[in-house]
Amino acid sequence: MNKQWLLAERPSGLFTKENFELKQVIMPQLEDEQFLVKVIYLSIDPTQRMWAQMDTYLPAVAKGEVMRSLGMGVVVRSRNPAFKEGDVVQGMTGWQTHTVTDGRGFSLVPWKSGLPLDSYMGPLGMTGITAYFGLMDIGKPEKGETLLVSAAAGAVGSIVCQIGKIKGMRVVGLAGTDDKCKWLADELDVDEAINYRDANAYKKLQEACPKGVDVFFDNVGGKMLDMALGLINVGARIPLCGYISEYASSKPGPGVHNLAALISKRARIEGFLVLDYVHQSRDALGELGKWVMDGRIKYRMDIAEGFDELPLIANKLFTGENTGKLLLKVSEPPE
Ligand SMILES: NC(=O)c1ccc[n+]([C@@H]2O[C@H](COP(=O)([O-])OP(=O)(O)OC[C@H]3O[C@@H](n4cnc5c(N)ncnc54)[C@H](OP(=O)(O)O)[C@@H]3O)[C@@H](O)[C@H]2O)c1
Repeated sequence: MNKQWLLAERPSGLFTKENFELKQVIMPQLEDEQFLVKVIYLSIDPTQRMWAQMDTYLPAVAKGEVMRSLGMGVVVRSRNPAFKEGDVVQGMTGWQTHTVTDGRGFSLVPWKSGLPLDSYMGPLGMTGITAYFGLMDIGKPEKGETLLVSAAAGAVGSIVCQIGKIKGMRVVGLAGTDDKCKWLADELDVDEAINYRDANAYKKLQEACPKGVDVFFDNVGGKMLDMALGLINVGARIPLCGYISEYASSKPGPGVHNLAALISKRARIEGFLVLDYVHQSRDALGELGKWVMDGRIKYRMDIAEGFDELPLIANKLFTGENTGKLLLKVSEPPE
């Protein structure tokens, strides 16, 4: 039997269970080239909230379809010679406990590398690639410059902060709780971590960036972007990675008021998508793997359980209840 969450209606605001239908179906017989995957982890990503609502860089998930999601699982039966029983694979499994695929869009996970399996859903997966290319390709970091990161204690943000440190930058992180700030400062060696919910957050931010901001890696948009624009230096780069402040809001935000700073500072803001970098990610993953093994990149997996609560677990990204990469564990990983 396969348990799956189907999209029932377009969400408005945070996900509710009523936005989805939880269904049990019998798995189909395998055809030639197909294999059956038992899902171990589902990646919970902010972009899923957009996929459920509207066309973006991918078409919206259709009503009645399994909710789209990246996942990792183990091959339990196979009629495809490239994917054998016991292999661990990654691909678009969707919000379900099992999936049948012909392997298109799936790849093998080198899970006997000695690195923890879940790291391939974090720093050695899409999260790491996003952080790496967003910072290196768009942010163009230079030693001695100041890097400001929003949602700094999240999956992407926490890796960006550490790559910034490796590249010799002064790194300032913005996060929504004192505990997250403590993690950033004490464990990830971020130079200054500021709780943006503090009444005097802007003043603290100004003090933390005495030479201004050269690179602002933005995961949030809205007010956070406005605040950072007030501090950018001439020639600053702003990789616009995400706009999470507005994904789950039912009405548009107030907009950004300080955009004109881009003119006087001859600065650049540029959106990017990790999908455009996947084909060139081999070297980046090699470098990230080395940094993880050397302990220069530390990471935290926030692993939730409870498949039947999945839509509510996904909301943690928008309420700030996650630290590091949010995953849902669906079944036990192999020994
Ligand atoms: N461009 C790409 O290809 C790409 C790929 C992956 C991810 N992304 C984007 O990167 C961003 C981070 O994704 P992630 O997977 O790493 O998630 P994440 O940072 O692990 O989790 C989201 C975090 O965003 C913060 N947040 C949520 N709502 C907020 C708001 N209204 N104002 C300020 N902060 C808010 C929360 O942290 P606090 O407690 O600090 O508020 C929350 O923990 C998202 O915008 C996502 O869409 C883009």
